[in-house]
Amino acid sequence: MTHPLEQLRDDALREIQSAGDEQSLEAARVKYLGRSGSVSAWGEQMKTLPKEEKPIVGKLLNEVRIAVTSAIESRTAQFRSQKESSSLGKIDISLPGTAREIGALHPLTQMWERSIEIFRRMGFALADGPDIEDEWHCFDALNTPPEHPARSEQDTFYLPDGRLLRTHTSTVQIRTMQNAKPPIRVISPGAAYRNEEIDATHAAQFHQIEGLYVDKDVSVADLKGTLEFFMRELFGAGTEVQFRPHFFPFTEPSLECYVKSKALKGGEQWIEVAGSGVVHPAVFEQVNKSRGDKAYDPEKWSGFAFGLGMDRLAMILFDIPDLRLFAQNDLRFLRQFA
Ligand code: PHE
Repeated sequence: MTHPLEQLRDDALREIQSAGDEQSLEAARVKYLGRSGSVSAWGEQMKTLPKEEKPIVGKLLNEVRIAVTSAIESRTAQFRSQKESSSLGKIDISLPGTAREIGALHPLTQMWERSIEIFRRMGFALADGPDIEDEWHCFDALNTPPEHPARSEQDTFYLPDGRLLRTHTSTVQIRTMQNAKPPIRVISPGAAYRNEEIDATHAAQFHQIEGLYVDKDVSVADLKGTLEFFMRELFGAGTEVQFRPHFFPFTEPSLECYVKSKALKGGEQWIEVAGSGVVHPAVFEQVNKSRGDKAYDPEKWSGFAFGLGMDRLAMILFDIPDLRLFAQNDLRFLRQFA
């Protein structure tokens, strides 16, 4: 014979199992486990039972309470997970995703990467130097006398402590030779600064790739061959390259390198893209003095150097009429190179 408590338990479990929503489940909980619910009522009734029945009924009541409680808990969990999966169902996985915009390299950076790649194939390694320099590395070591106009405050940005923003990357020639013995074959990409009147082809901050090649019997022919090869790799085999005599204190002879550009002034125009020349013996002597040795003996070693104007090269390569565009951060401009 089943005890009425067992009957109560079976009824409760059936009701809980068939509860269709959280409300009817809550109603069932109140009905059985609430303060005046039927399971609780049995607790009260216990007091009236004969002594010998108390432990048996007490044990049974306990089991019933546990069974009903855990049935309610598991039905509650079922409702919760049903709710979660039905809200997931509202996500339409066939919709296209939110596109993330991927940036692109700045045209000048692209220019740098292409140039470095070409020089690497010719065996040039990368060298580096600081943008904030001292006068010795920027001028004295490069055979530029104190009265030279480039050193005036009209042309150069000086810091209050006497240091300066380098006016060219040629400083890296000196730093490289201070730190390594010949032979040397390096390029050094970086920014340079001049107190310039700003226009379509001049900016106060511009970018160069410096080159230095020191070895035995290096001549102007090596210099011209290297730069011509570079220009043709960059702009195509038919590119016209021209060298014109010039003056730099740190090279002798000195040459300016011009490339013909269709980008400027709507027509064809020679545009100056590099300064270059054969390293002046006085530069080697300055380096020797600071090294305290004769590593760069001008009788034994010779070399060439060049400074390529990256902004100008990029103007030609990408057909850009005004180099101020490089620094204006206008996305309509930049997106064209993505
Ligand atoms: N430093 C020179 C300039 O910025 C370029 C140059 C580099 C010339 C190396 C000769 C040799 O104008």
